[in-house]
Amino acid sequence: MSINSKKNKGNKPAHHNSVSGENLDFLDQTLRPSKWDEYIGQENIKKNLRILLDAARERGHPPEHLLFYGPPGLGKTTLAHLIAKETSSQMRSTSGPAIEKIGDLASILTNLSPGDILFIDEIHRLNKSIEEVLYPAMESGLLDIIIGKGPSARTIQLELPAFTLIGATTRVAMLSSPLRSRFSGGVFRLEFYNPNEIIQIIKRSANILGVSLDKMAAKDIGERSRFTPRTANYLLKRARDYAQIQKKDIDQNIAREAFNLLGIDKAGLNFSDIALLKTIADKFRGGPVGLNTLAASLSEEESTIEEFNEPYLLQIGFLERTPKGRVLTKRAYKHLDIDFPKEKQEKLL
Ligand SMILES: Nc1ncnc2c1ncn2[C@@H]1O[C@H](COP(=O)(O)OP(=O)(O)OP(=O)(O)O)[C@@H](O)[C@H]1O
Ligand SMILES: [Mg+2]
Repeated sequence: MSINSKKNKGNKPAHHNSVSGENLDFLDQTLRPSKWDEYIGQENIKKNLRILLDAARERGHPPEHLLFYGPPGLGKTTLAHLIAKETSSQMRSTSGPAIEKIGDLASILTNLSPGDILFIDEIHRLNKSIEEVLYPAMESGLLDIIIGKGPSARTIQLELPAFTLIGATTRVAMLSSPLRSRFSGGVFRLEFYNPNEIIQIIKRSANILGVSLDKMAAKDIGERSRFTPRTANYLLKRARDYAQIQKKDIDQNIAREAFNLLGIDKAGLNFSDIALLKTIADKFRGGPVGLNTLAASLSEEESTIEEFNEPYLLQIGFLERTPKGRVLTKRAYKHLDIDFPKEKQEKLL
């Protein structure tokens, strides 16, 4: 099996509207920071990684295993690439769903060279029997393989070259705790970016793409970027396309016309976010409503809602998660321009 097998792709839930499908990989690659200095924000993670990588280098060992988690497009894969570069290691990439059989994992592990980085994307989708083979490999560099079946079966143990596993996931809660605890180097949560950082990212990308955009346009793109670099880059590119057709530079008007065409509102919400909020308001009187009910009512996958819509809606305070389900906030009602229900008003008092 080739480690970069096609299965890596396609298995991922479709990226949602504003960052949907087309050329996502290509976009990520051209605009992906290839030096630490270009990786803007996530200061806390960078500080911790610095220490970890320097210390490992001094000891002459590969860094310990690392896990990155957080919503899509915040820079997990990019970080893994930067670490490989920083440690001058070869990076092998695969993903949870691409490793179907224990044999797949065994062949990946036995083909590693000393000091390699093994990047497993969507690691929450590894199946349990494969996870169990991974534990001793992560902990003590050993691979136990069972050969044969029934009474004649025997286990052979292979010693693996020292390697660093970097896992990435958008759904850390789905990771089993034994697996999580084996990321001895640390488990890092990527945060949404602040407006300044997003503006810096937009300016850098505009430079790379060779487009000029004015300050107000950059600010507008930033405000609709969901505090997410990938979305910021996506919007910048769409504004660039629109400006090109109009034979103009990107200014605020051009940017806004492009957002309108894309159906992205001033809070960065797309059709599916709005549908979600309106459904909670109209069909469930503002909630609480359970995720499965909500998903069924929107004909949407639960995982899509959880991964793509909710993190940002929670972040901007449009949605709250309670033990009984999702609840729409006053702020969301205001944004939708729907009156906040009286019965809720009374509850607040
Ligand atoms: N800190 C950053 N500074 C500048 N650009 C960034 C940063 N983080 C991410 N980007 C941009 O956003 C794109 C998406 O980042 P990346 O692919 O690393 O996200 P991810 O967290 O792996 O997403 P997914 O969960 O969908 O795999 C990158 O190609 C890069 O262009
Ligand atoms: Mg990624």
